[in-house]
Amino acid sequence: MVRLMPSLLSADFANLQAAIESVPSADALHVDVMDNHFVPNLTLGLPVFESIRAATPVMLDVHLMIEDPDRWAPAYAEAGAESVTFHVEAAAAPVRLARELRGRGARASMALKPATPIEPYADLLPELDMVLIMTVEPGFGGQKFLDLCLPKIERTRALLDKVGGDVWLQVDGGVSAETVERCAAAGVDSFVAGSSVFGADDPDAMVAELRRLALA
Ligand code: DX5
Ligand code: ZN
Repeated sequence: MVRLMPSLLSADFANLQAAIESVPSADALHVDVMDNHFVPNLTLGLPVFESIRAATPVMLDVHLMIEDPDRWAPAYAEAGAESVTFHVEAAAAPVRLARELRGRGARASMALKPATPIEPYADLLPELDMVLIMTVEPGFGGQKFLDLCLPKIERTRALLDKVGGDVWLQVDGGVSAETVERCAAAGVDSFVAGSSVFGADDPDAMVAELRRLALA
């Protein structure tokens, strides 16, 4: 089972409806929220998210690259996000936050930047529905995949297998036809792809191609 989650960050922000409709075989749409504090870039907030929510019934996977996710993340669950990812580097109380998200009916997900190890957070895994291992420094689309993250992906897969249950393992950053197989081999089941999908002539064909390579 693999899931393909195109990132709207690489879509035309003046025409998100067309972007959403260009990837009908996506399992979810990945929505990147940046605040220009946690990362040096600014994207969109709750009002735009609510419009995206109203525009499609597809699963929305919100990736919060913001300070103080403890304050903001629950609002995205309230607004109808099926999955909300906070960065553990920014969360003051990740266990409480994960429980709040689940309490609001969303999947609770924790993200790690490339230099953040998984091991200190191993005991949190039962509180989560997904772990996102960033494979670029968060903040921008179109960056080169960091191979140095692969050992951490493998270690996270091993920890998740030990915990059991159905915690998804996601990668985000530089995922393309060149890198998707490496991630799948390391144990990833959920793939975010921005520039490789929306930069393709046929975005939905690229979703299908990434899925084929991930399953190979
Ligand atoms: C980057 C974002 C990603 C971004 C990935 O910080 O979190 O979701 O859209 O873009 P690509 O796939 O182009 O690396
Ligand atoms: Zn993202």
